[in-house]
Amino acid sequence: MSKIERYQQLLSPDMMYSQQAITLLSKKLLPQKRYDHVLRVLDTALILAKKFDIADKEKITIAAIFHDFAKGMTSDELAQYALIYNIDLGEAIPSAYHAIVGSWMVSHFFNIHDEDIIQAIYYHTTGSTNFLTNKIGAILFLADYIEPGRPHKIDHIQQFIPQNLNRALREVVKSKVCRTIHQDKKIDNHSINFYHYLLKEE
Ligand SMILES: [Fe+2]
Ligand SMILES: [Fe+2]
Repeated sequence: MSKIERYQQLLSPDMMYSQQAITLLSKKLLPQKRYDHVLRVLDTALILAKKFDIADKEKITIAAIFHDFAKGMTSDELAQYALIYNIDLGEAIPSAYHAIVGSWMVSHFFNIHDEDIIQAIYYHTTGSTNFLTNKIGAILFLADYIEPGRPHKIDHIQQFIPQNLNRALREVVKSKVCRTIHQDKKIDNHSINFYHYLLKEE
């Protein structure tokens, strides 16, 4: 069975969300390494929420647990999946396909339409100016980058936690954009806009 078929077999509209059910589903859909990453992102996001005094633990939990939900497919498979279901990938870079498809899955299959959650998942790879007001997105973006399993250095980000959320976010975008440049890959416009807004905020 192809990975696309696996998703088709396990997902259907009007599924009920519960943390336990999504954890079980994720275990079936994601490679073990990705699944472990998701659990670390969830832990990290909840720790960050406490540090930044953000009360909405439920929304943060949902956004974190679903953020890489579509990552059991490669970017080619995600492009195919998007064609089948008419999901608009627009000008997105391939590394962001799983974020766009994942946010679509959350609203389509699980009936979750909270804009903070949907946008948090949609933009978790690139970042977005949406995160200047959407704290769920800001926390997810940060947690995804600094969770303890990541191989890269995070001291330059940690030093701004918890006193300066925007500065911590700017350091994440900067690191991601620099890495993308070194890989000779295309930079998403949302990342650039986000970076410029964060510069202005200082
Ligand atoms: Fe992701
Ligand atoms: Fe992730």
